[in-house]
Amino acid sequence: MKQKKLLYTGKAKSVYRTDVKGKLIVEFRDDITAFDGGKKDTLKNKGCYNAGVSAFFFSCLEKNGVKTHFLEMLDEKRMVVRELSMIPLEVIVRNLAAGSIVRNYPFKEGTPLKPPVIVIDYKDDSRHDPMLNDDLIIALRLATPAELKRIKTIALRVNTILSNMLAQQGITLVDFKMEFGWQGKTIYLGDEISMDSMRLWDKKTGESLDKDVYRFNKGDVMATYNRVAARITKVPGAAKKAVRVPKKTRKQAR
Ligand code: C5P
Repeated sequence: MKQKKLLYTGKAKSVYRTDVKGKLIVEFRDDITAFDGGKKDTLKNKGCYNAGVSAFFFSCLEKNGVKTHFLEMLDEKRMVVRELSMIPLEVIVRNLAAGSIVRNYPFKEGTPLKPPVIVIDYKDDSRHDPMLNDDLIIALRLATPAELKRIKTIALRVNTILSNMLAQQGITLVDFKMEFGWQGKTIYLGDEISMDSMRLWDKKTGESLDKDVYRFNKGDVMATYNRVAARITKVPGAAKKAVRVPKKTRKQAR
Protein backbone atom coordinates (compact mmCIF):
# COMPACT_ATOMS: atom_id res chain seq x y z
CA MET A 1 0.00 0.00 0.00
CA LYS A 2 1.31 3.44 -0.90
CA GLN A 3 0.99 6.45 1.36
CA LYS A 4 -0.39 9.40 -0.62
CA LYS A 5 -1.28 12.99 0.19
CA LEU A 6 -1.71 14.33 3.71
CA LEU A 7 -5.42 14.73 4.44
CA TYR A 8 -5.44 16.08 7.96
CA THR A 9 -3.04 16.93 10.78
CA GLY A 10 -4.34 16.76 14.34
CA LYS A 11 -2.51 17.51 17.59
CA ALA A 12 -0.83 14.10 17.75
CA LYS A 13 -1.76 12.22 14.57
CA SER A 14 -1.62 12.77 10.82
CA VAL A 15 -3.98 11.12 8.36
CA TYR A 16 -2.95 10.24 4.81
CA ARG A 17 -4.76 9.03 1.71
CA THR A 18 -3.57 5.76 0.20
CA ASP A 19 -3.68 4.21 -3.23
CA VAL A 20 -6.53 1.98 -2.01
CA LYS A 21 -10.08 3.36 -2.05
CA GLY A 22 -11.71 3.49 1.40
CA LYS A 23 -8.42 2.98 3.29
CA LEU A 24 -6.38 5.65 5.05
CA ILE A 25 -3.11 5.65 6.97
CA VAL A 26 -3.01 7.17 10.45
CA GLU A 27 0.46 8.14 11.64
CA PHE A 28 0.86 8.46 15.41
CA ARG A 29 3.39 11.26 15.87
CA ASP A 30 5.59 11.84 18.92
CA ASP A 31 3.76 15.10 19.73
CA ILE A 32 1.86 15.43 22.99
CA THR A 33 -0.42 18.29 24.02
CA ALA A 34 -2.65 19.14 26.95
CA PHE A 35 -4.94 21.91 28.18
CA ASP A 36 -6.44 22.69 24.78
CA GLY A 37 -3.00 22.81 23.18
CA GLY A 38 -1.66 25.14 25.90
CA LYS A 39 1.08 22.64 26.81
CA LYS A 40 3.01 20.98 23.96
CA ASP A 41 6.03 18.72 23.64
CA THR A 42 7.57 16.09 21.43
CA LEU A 43 8.53 12.91 23.27
CA LYS A 44 10.56 10.26 21.50
CA ASN A 45 8.71 6.97 20.88
CA LYS A 46 5.37 8.29 22.15
CA GLY A 47 3.76 7.57 18.77
CA CYS A 48 4.83 3.91 18.94
CA TYR A 49 3.35 3.39 22.39
CA ASN A 50 -0.01 4.92 21.50
CA ALA A 51 -0.18 3.20 18.13
CA GLY A 52 0.67 -0.18 19.69
CA VAL A 53 -1.85 0.14 22.49
CA SER A 54 -4.58 1.44 20.16
CA ALA A 55 -4.01 -1.42 17.72
CA PHE A 56 -4.11 -3.89 20.60
CA PHE A 57 -7.37 -2.49 21.99
CA PHE A 58 -9.00 -2.30 18.55
CA SER A 59 -8.06 -5.94 17.86
CA CYS A 60 -9.48 -7.05 21.21
CA LEU A 61 -12.67 -5.08 20.61
CA GLU A 62 -13.10 -6.59 17.13
CA LYS A 63 -12.73 -10.06 18.68
CA ASN A 64 -15.54 -9.06 21.02
CA GLY A 65 -17.85 -7.96 18.21
CA VAL A 66 -17.21 -4.19 18.27
CA LYS A 67 -16.66 -2.70 14.80
CA THR A 68 -13.58 -0.48 14.67
CA HIS A 69 -11.76 1.34 11.87
CA PHE A 70 -8.55 -0.62 12.54
CA LEU A 71 -7.27 -2.83 9.71
CA GLU A 72 -3.55 -3.44 10.24
CA MET A 73 -0.25 -1.89 11.33
CA LEU A 74 2.19 -0.87 8.59
CA ASP A 75 4.98 -0.25 11.07
CA GLU A 76 5.28 0.81 14.71
CA LYS A 77 3.68 4.22 14.14
CA ARG A 78 1.41 3.80 11.12
CA MET A 79 -1.98 2.16 11.14
CA VAL A 80 -4.16 1.34 8.13
CA VAL A 81 -7.79 2.21 8.86
CA ARG A 82 -11.15 2.31 7.11
CA GLU A 83 -12.01 5.75 5.85
CA LEU A 84 -14.91 7.01 7.97
CA SER A 85 -17.12 10.04 7.85
CA MET A 86 -16.40 11.20 11.39
CA ILE A 87 -19.12 12.39 13.77
CA PRO A 88 -17.78 15.45 15.63
CA LEU A 89 -18.54 14.03 19.09
CA GLU A 90 -16.16 13.10 21.90
CA VAL A 91 -17.90 10.32 23.78
CA ILE A 92 -16.44 9.95 27.27
CA VAL A 93 -17.32 7.08 29.60
CA ARG A 94 -16.52 7.64 33.27
CA ASN A 95 -16.31 4.86 35.87
CA LEU A 96 -14.79 6.97 38.64
CA ALA A 97 -15.00 10.72 39.14
CA ALA A 98 -11.81 12.45 37.96
CA GLY A 99 -10.66 15.31 35.76
CA SER A 100 -13.14 17.84 34.44
CA ILE A 101 -16.21 16.46 36.26
CA VAL A 102 -14.41 16.94 39.58
CA ARG A 103 -13.46 20.49 38.58
CA ASN A 104 -16.96 21.35 37.30
CA TYR A 105 -19.28 19.44 39.63
CA PRO A 106 -19.27 18.54 43.34
CA PHE A 107 -17.79 15.06 42.91
CA LYS A 108 -14.96 13.87 45.15
CA GLU A 109 -12.08 12.46 43.07
CA GLY A 110 -12.17 8.66 42.93
CA THR A 111 -15.91 8.31 43.69
CA PRO A 112 -17.24 5.26 41.79
CA LEU A 113 -19.91 6.15 39.24
CA LYS A 114 -22.40 3.30 39.04
CA PRO A 115 -23.78 3.08 36.44
CA PRO A 116 -20.95 4.68 34.45
CA VAL A 117 -21.58 8.26 33.36
CA ILE A 118 -21.47 9.10 29.66
CA VAL A 119 -20.49 12.67 28.82
CA ILE A 120 -20.53 13.83 25.20
CA ASP A 121 -18.61 16.90 24.05
CA TYR A 122 -18.82 18.72 20.73
CA LYS A 123 -15.46 18.22 18.98
CA ASP A 124 -14.59 21.77 17.98
CA ASP A 125 -11.28 23.25 19.14
CA SER A 126 -12.40 26.80 18.27
CA ARG A 127 -15.25 26.40 20.80
CA HIS A 128 -13.12 24.45 23.31
CA ASP A 129 -15.15 21.23 22.91
CA PRO A 130 -18.29 22.28 24.85
CA MET A 131 -20.36 19.61 26.59
CA LEU A 132 -23.56 18.62 24.76
CA ASN A 133 -26.78 16.98 25.86
CA ASP A 134 -29.07 14.65 23.91
CA ASP A 135 -31.38 17.47 22.77
CA LEU A 136 -28.46 19.56 21.49
CA ILE A 137 -26.98 16.58 19.63
CA ILE A 138 -30.32 15.97 17.94
CA ALA A 139 -31.00 19.69 17.27
CA LEU A 140 -27.52 20.05 15.74
CA ARG A 141 -28.32 16.98 13.60
CA LEU A 142 -25.14 15.28 14.76
CA ALA A 143 -27.12 12.07 15.33
CA THR A 144 -30.73 10.91 15.33
CA PRO A 145 -32.19 9.65 18.63
CA ALA A 146 -31.73 6.05 17.43
CA GLU A 147 -28.12 6.68 16.35
CA LEU A 148 -27.34 8.35 19.66
CA LYS A 149 -28.79 5.37 21.52
CA ARG A 150 -26.61 3.06 19.42
CA ILE A 151 -23.49 5.16 20.08
CA LYS A 152 -24.13 5.01 23.83
CA THR A 153 -24.75 1.25 23.72
CA ILE A 154 -21.44 0.69 21.88
CA ALA A 155 -19.63 3.08 24.26
CA LEU A 156 -20.81 1.11 27.30
CA ARG A 157 -19.91 -2.19 25.67
CA VAL A 158 -16.39 -0.92 24.90
CA ASN A 159 -16.16 0.25 28.51
CA THR A 160 -17.08 -3.19 29.87
CA ILE A 161 -14.60 -4.98 27.58
CA LEU A 162 -11.70 -2.61 28.29
CA SER A 163 -12.41 -2.33 32.03
CA ASN A 164 -12.35 -6.12 32.39
CA MET A 165 -9.22 -6.49 30.30
CA LEU A 166 -7.33 -3.78 32.18
CA ALA A 167 -8.47 -5.14 35.54
CA GLN A 168 -6.57 -8.35 34.71
CA GLN A 169 -3.42 -6.22 34.63
CA GLY A 170 -4.23 -4.49 37.92
CA ILE A 171 -5.31 -1.28 36.17
CA THR A 172 -8.52 0.67 36.80
CA LEU A 173 -10.12 2.29 33.76
CA VAL A 174 -11.19 5.58 35.34
CA ASP A 175 -12.48 7.21 32.14
CA PHE A 176 -11.75 7.35 28.43
CA LYS A 177 -12.78 9.10 25.23
CA MET A 178 -14.04 7.60 21.99
CA GLU A 179 -14.87 8.96 18.55
CA PHE A 180 -17.17 7.34 16.04
CA GLY A 181 -17.73 7.58 12.30
CA TRP A 182 -19.78 6.16 9.49
CA GLN A 183 -18.86 3.99 6.56
CA GLY A 184 -22.07 3.60 4.58
CA LYS A 185 -24.77 2.68 7.07
CA THR A 186 -22.37 1.16 9.60
CA ILE A 187 -21.03 2.97 12.60
CA TYR A 188 -17.42 2.26 13.53
CA LEU A 189 -15.24 3.16 16.50
CA GLY A 190 -12.52 5.42 15.11
CA ASP A 191 -9.62 7.61 16.24
CA GLU A 192 -7.47 6.01 18.96
CA ILE A 193 -7.72 4.43 22.39
CA SER A 194 -4.46 5.00 24.17
CA MET A 195 -2.79 6.51 27.21
CA ASP A 196 -3.52 9.92 25.67
CA SER A 197 -7.28 9.36 25.67
CA MET A 198 -7.75 7.34 28.86
CA ARG A 199 -7.33 7.85 32.56
CA LEU A 200 -5.73 4.72 34.07
CA TRP A 201 -4.89 4.17 37.73
CA ASP A 202 -2.77 1.39 39.19
CA LYS A 203 -5.18 -0.63 41.36
CA LYS A 204 -2.63 -1.11 44.15
CA THR A 205 -0.85 2.23 44.31
CA GLY A 206 -3.36 4.62 42.71
CA GLU A 207 -0.50 5.87 40.50
CA SER A 208 -1.52 7.60 37.22
CA LEU A 209 -0.55 5.57 34.14
CA ASP A 210 -1.70 7.99 31.43
CA LYS A 211 -1.48 11.53 30.08
CA ASP A 212 -2.15 12.98 33.56
CA VAL A 213 1.56 12.24 34.19
CA TYR A 214 2.29 14.79 31.43
CA ARG A 215 -0.54 17.21 32.29
CA PHE A 216 0.45 17.51 35.93
CA ASN A 217 4.22 16.83 35.80
CA LYS A 218 3.79 13.66 37.85
CA GLY A 219 6.97 11.99 36.59
CA ASP A 220 8.73 10.62 33.52
CA VAL A 221 5.98 10.46 30.88
CA MET A 222 7.73 8.12 28.44
CA ALA A 223 8.88 5.75 31.19
CA THR A 224 5.22 5.52 32.27
CA TYR A 225 3.91 5.01 28.71
CA ASN A 226 6.63 2.44 28.13
CA ARG A 227 5.68 0.44 31.25
CA VAL A 228 1.94 0.69 30.79
CA ALA A 229 2.06 -0.20 27.06
CA ALA A 230 3.96 -3.38 27.88
CA ARG A 231 1.63 -4.17 30.77
CA ILE A 232 -1.55 -3.66 28.72
CA THR A 233 -0.46 -5.63 25.66
CA LYS A 234 0.59 -8.60 27.81
CA VAL A 235 -2.97 -9.66 28.72
CA PRO A 236 -2.99 -13.43 28.01
CA GLY A 237 -5.17 -14.50 25.10
CA ALA A 238 -6.66 -11.03 24.67
CA ALA A 239 -5.63 -10.46 21.06
CA LYS A 240 -3.80 -12.91 18.90
CA LYS A 241 -3.23 -10.40 16.09
CA ALA A 242 0.37 -9.20 16.17
CA VAL A 243 0.61 -5.78 17.67
CA ARG A 244 4.07 -4.37 17.70
CA VAL A 245 5.14 -2.41 20.73
CA PRO A 246 8.81 -1.37 20.25
CA LYS A 247 11.17 -4.19 21.33
CA LYS A 248 12.93 -1.79 23.66
CA THR A 249 9.62 -1.25 25.43
CA ARG A 250 9.19 -4.91 26.23
CA LYS A 251 12.75 -5.24 27.52
CA GLN A 252 12.72 -2.11 29.63
CA ALA A 253 9.41 -3.03 31.17
CA ARG A 254 10.68 -6.30 32.61
O1 C5P B 1 -10.59 16.22 30.83
P1 C5P B 1 -11.66 15.21 31.13
O2 C5P B 1 -11.66 14.78 32.56
O3 C5P B 1 -13.02 15.66 30.68
O4 C5P B 1 -11.29 13.94 30.25
C1 C5P B 1 -11.99 12.72 30.37
C2 C5P B 1 -11.27 11.64 29.59
O5 C5P B 1 -11.36 11.88 28.20
C3 C5P B 1 -9.78 11.57 29.91
O6 C5P B 1 -9.40 10.20 29.89
C4 C5P B 1 -9.13 12.34 28.79
O7 C5P B 1 -7.82 11.89 28.53
C5 C5P B 1 -10.07 12.05 27.63
N1 C5P B 1 -10.15 13.17 26.68
C6 C5P B 1 -9.52 13.08 25.44
N2 C5P B 1 -9.59 14.12 24.55
C7 C5P B 1 -10.28 15.22 24.84
C8 C5P B 1 -10.92 15.35 26.08
C9 C5P B 1 -10.83 14.29 26.99
O8 C5P B 1 -8.92 12.06 25.14
N3 C5P B 1 -10.33 16.20 23.94
